[in-house]
Amino acid sequence: MPQTTSLPGTTDRRLAALLTLLSENATIVISGARIAREIGVSRSTVWRWVERLRELGVRAKGQPHTGYFLEKVPDILTPDLVRRRLKGSLFGKRVYHFFKTDSTNRVAMELGYAGEPEGAVVLAEEQTAGRGRAGRSWHSERGAGLYVTLLLRPKLSPVQAPLLTMLAGLSAHSAVAAQSGVKAELKWPNDLLVNGKKLGGILTEMHAEPSAVRFVIVGMGINVNQEKFPGELGGIATSLRRETGRSQSRLEFLAKLLRQFESDYNRFLREGAAYVVERFELVSSFAHGRRVRVDTGTETYLGTTEGLSPEGLLMVKRDSGVRATVIAGDVSEMK
Ligand code: BTN
Repeated sequence: MPQTTSLPGTTDRRLAALLTLLSENATIVISGARIAREIGVSRSTVWRWVERLRELGVRAKGQPHTGYFLEKVPDILTPDLVRRRLKGSLFGKRVYHFFKTDSTNRVAMELGYAGEPEGAVVLAEEQTAGRGRAGRSWHSERGAGLYVTLLLRPKLSPVQAPLLTMLAGLSAHSAVAAQSGVKAELKWPNDLLVNGKKLGGILTEMHAEPSAVRFVIVGMGINVNQEKFPGELGGIATSLRRETGRSQSRLEFLAKLLRQFESDYNRFLREGAAYVVERFELVSSFAHGRRVRVDTGTETYLGTTEGLSPEGLLMVKRDSGVRATVIAGDVSEMK
């Protein structure tokens, strides 16, 4: 099925082609006439689009009569570049890119309802209403983080779908280490933390019938190149850049993340819940022996983590001695 291009707000294919052309010839001046010819628009459109790219933070220099060049190759996740990096992958076929959207999860849900096939990837440089867990918002500074949502159509029952959140957490944990060397902590069910500060999170949403999942969307937000965070986030969030002291290529990181997720996803479909649960218990330092506060929305209690159930639920021994299984809720560590 060819990729839909009419989704409102997605980056114009030719605008993306302009960016790719300039990026591939960075620091070399290309004439407006050549650009116009190669991407199939008029020279005045090229000028307008270069202006637009500048507004979006791209360091494009030059004038219509001299030609244009990029002072620095921007780390923008245009569909061409992403597809090229993900050749042969489930996620290298249908890539929807936005310079700005409210939430990539919202877009992916709409694609899901519209019958979009499995493997679609929705990316944004900036989100104006990024969604976090428990109704929280997700701070989505332009070009600094990775904001990506995947559309999946697994043959699973709805009760198994939360395992995909944990699976995505495992994939993100591996991709972070491969990209930057940062050893993040993985907190059930989906938090990536470094020294207690949030590096990334996953929000899975689904459309299901009582016995079968129709589709699941897996939204991942990873703080990559933020130098600082506004307000109270300053004390509770971190980024790969802050942890390593260097900026990281979001494109490279995205490619690692999606290839890792694809391989983990295939293993989960082949081997079942045990693959996710066993790996999570190995990787997550939170799974055993941690003092935690659990907030289920209806009650709050203190206890100590005692591993995961075969279905992937967190088991906690409450301070009262009663054993509890956390189905959903906020689990925070007690220091
Ligand atoms: C959490 O609260 O830990 C989950 C955060 C998930 C944020 C990502 S960013 C990409 C995707 N689109 C959204 O609106 N949310 C998720």
